[in-house]
Amino acid sequence: MKPQASIMAHAARNLGQIRLNSTVKTTSYDPRKQEIPEHSTLFSMIQPTGMFHLGNYLGAVRAWKDLTDYAPDSTKLIFGTADLHAITIPKPAKDIRKFRSEAIASILASGVNHERAIIYHQSALPEHAELNWILSTLAGTGYLNRMTQWKSKSEGLDNSSLGLFAYPVLQAADILLFKSTHVPVGDDQVQHLELCRTLAESFNKQFGKTFKLPTTLLAPTKKILSLRDPLKKMSKSDKDQNATIYINETSDEIAKKIKKAVTDSTSTHFNYDPENRPGVSNLINIISGIQRKSIQEVESDISDFKDHKTFKDYVCYVINEEINEPRRKFEELVQNSNYLNKIVQEGNEKARAIASVNIKEFKQKVGF
Ligand code: AMP
Ligand code: TRP
Repeated sequence: MKPQASIMAHAARNLGQIRLNSTVKTTSYDPRKQEIPEHSTLFSMIQPTGMFHLGNYLGAVRAWKDLTDYAPDSTKLIFGTADLHAITIPKPAKDIRKFRSEAIASILASGVNHERAIIYHQSALPEHAELNWILSTLAGTGYLNRMTQWKSKSEGLDNSSLGLFAYPVLQAADILLFKSTHVPVGDDQVQHLELCRTLAESFNKQFGKTFKLPTTLLAPTKKILSLRDPLKKMSKSDKDQNATIYINETSDEIAKKIKKAVTDSTSTHFNYDPENRPGVSNLINIISGIQRKSIQEVESDISDFKDHKTFKDYVCYVINEEINEPRRKFEELVQNSNYLNKIVQEGNEKARAIASVNIKEFKQKVGF
């Protein structure tokens, strides 16, 4: 490919040149190139429902790390475990405890600097539930009923709960509690963020201007697909655990899963064509995300691969290079529960200091 074409393709993919501004409400971004405006509040959460997988890492948590490294000093960075959300699909208390502490270890192991970012547990702040209630009075049940995640999560459940239905309202409360301006998430959260902006607008209209409408920040690798069925997203809850690569897995486990990853019978070349070659394209997308290269650059790097083994060995090599350090750090941190508890305790206190001031303002506006 001519250099000019490659530059254009790169720009189109990363949209790295677009500066964030207050009118863009959903944008692809590259935190290394893009400017986050001064005095922004960046906020995101992850559910402690199992180990982090490659989708969580590339779609969300690595972006959190980049933001802690590259956002201006005047920005607030707040990241949490969404443990209140995690119980919308009931789990034993011991699992919740274990997953919460593993989630903190994973966030730190991915390189998020706890001295720069607040890292906390959602359930430690009663203000989340308070704002949730206020926002729930503004949320239309018809709108909630259209949420695709609610539909897919409630499918097959005998008795799906009010909590699962109202889940996106709590998510909006999480974000607005800190008057967040930017929310880095994967593709599957776009619809929830739209609801959040609608609720912020309704609150502003009814009770006076309080919230800026938060921008959704999508990483270039906003959607990593299942290795076994590349038409679905990679997910912690996939019944086929060969579909998902976790960031603490050994190189042997990863090699086994990549070997079983669905591709196709063409081995003369490996190119990105999501419609006709979804499996191969997903693996190329993973490489491109990890290496922060455009799809075209990756295609050019692998242009002389002529068999599946060479291609898949390369995928394993790239994944292992990236997660070696997080994997090592995770194993170390997860043994050290005192250290993890101390970090969360500090994070809970810092988060509460902001939330308790904000909730007073919101309640006063409502008339309490
Ligand atoms: P969850 O595990 O559902 O709590 O997701 C935590 C974060 O990871 C959210 O920002 C999701 O959008 C993101 N995420 C989850 N699965 C994927 C995926 N397969 N590809 C990209 N991002 C994902
Ligand atoms: N719903 C999100 C997910 O499943 C997790 C989440 C809860 C979240 N509260 C949030 C993400 C607030 C961003 C902002 O991934």
